[in-house]
Amino acid sequence: MSNVAVIGSQWGDEGKGKIVDVLSKEADMVVRFQGGHNAGHTLVIDGVTYKLHLLPSGIVRPGKMSVIGNGVVVDPKALLTEIETVKAQGIDVTSDNLLLAENATLILPVHPALDVAMEEARGAKKIGTTGRGIGLAYEDKVARRAIRVCDLAHPEYLKERIENMLNHHNVLLKGMGAEEMSVTAVYDELMSVADKILAYSGVAWRAIDDADKAGKKILFEGAQGHFLDVDHGTYPFVTSSNTVAAQAAAGAGVGSKKIGYVLGITKAYTTRVGSGPFPTELHDAVGEEIGKKGHEFGTSTGRKRRCGWFDAVLVRQAIKTGGIDGIALTKMDVLDGFDEIKVCVAYELNGTRIDYLPASTVDQANIKPVYETIKGWSDTSQGARSWAEIPAEAVKYVRYIEELIEAPVALLSTSPDRDDTILMQDPFRS
Ligand code: IMP
Repeated sequence: MSNVAVIGSQWGDEGKGKIVDVLSKEADMVVRFQGGHNAGHTLVIDGVTYKLHLLPSGIVRPGKMSVIGNGVVVDPKALLTEIETVKAQGIDVTSDNLLLAENATLILPVHPALDVAMEEARGAKKIGTTGRGIGLAYEDKVARRAIRVCDLAHPEYLKERIENMLNHHNVLLKGMGAEEMSVTAVYDELMSVADKILAYSGVAWRAIDDADKAGKKILFEGAQGHFLDVDHGTYPFVTSSNTVAAQAAAGAGVGSKKIGYVLGITKAYTTRVGSGPFPTELHDAVGEEIGKKGHEFGTSTGRKRRCGWFDAVLVRQAIKTGGIDGIALTKMDVLDGFDEIKVCVAYELNGTRIDYLPASTVDQANIKPVYETIKGWSDTSQGARSWAEIPAEAVKYVRYIEELIEAPVALLSTSPDRDDTILMQDPFRS
């Protein structure tokens, strides 16, 4: 029996919410370890849609412990709003099923303000951030300026920390022509939510260790995707955290050996929100159709996602550099009805065929995808719960992908409904 980490193997939005929900049936504890409310995980359970951003997906299942680890950046107001939203949908959220790491970094109002101002200043070269202040909060963490959950319990110290932080940020805000922030206003706002936040705060690493010692099954829930990783992604068009499974150890406070199986959630085609290189992007009617059929609009920001064919080079690289053991292939049904389907099997850079995504932004912008074209299928794979219900050509597509990415498809998802899933390999038992 092993613990499982679920991560995105493309640019996020691969359908992690549903897969985590499927697996959380078995898990006792679900842990978020990076990112913040830039994430958007959609769960559809008994016809009810839940949109989660900061809360671990385990929250919608009774009897599961959800943990927000130290690697997450937490906007206190966004967290409380999200708790209220799911409570209004009939979900119980108390300190019995939600634990917030006392050493998690807080996102303060100055972070989204600067995020938006900096994006504006970048003009055409903008990253396309979610505007939630994620990158700025991580910058403060690394610069040792951040305010953490535990600081809310010490008002005098908190004020000192806010002063220290704003000494830095107000210079920036002023320089950008934006309004400076007052220490008192930030302090008062934080103190108005401090007790509510502290009610969920605790020693997350110990709770995880206790659960592990007791033989409980732990699911580490990643956000975003491999190519948004600050080291391994399409830098600088990335988020500001490590999104790879290895981050689950640092961002939750467990030894890396505790992460047994790494499941890479992988869409049967490719999407991306925000700016940055995207070799297989389609700017034609096919791309439009994929977007329409796949409802490709961001959960967090409502932005239209860019769409393209499956990029096997990219996913294979995620598998190698992220230690992915097997993938969960999602949204297969979106490809139903296409006469032919293309798969990117290599790139061409300045006339040379290459089998990896180069690190240089300039090279990434210049690479051309090399496609293999395969026959599509007219029958539907939507809602299939066994291989027998999958059209033969679609099965061939899955097998071809496995061969190209050098990893097995452990799980196949054929609709947003959690029951429409075919399990080939149980990650908790692999
Ligand atoms: P940030 O995380 O808001 O700083 O945004 C940095 C980049 O990551 C932008 O291209 C965003 O669109 C992208 N991004 C952040 N969170 C997600 C996500 O949950 N899904 C997909 N893309 C994301």
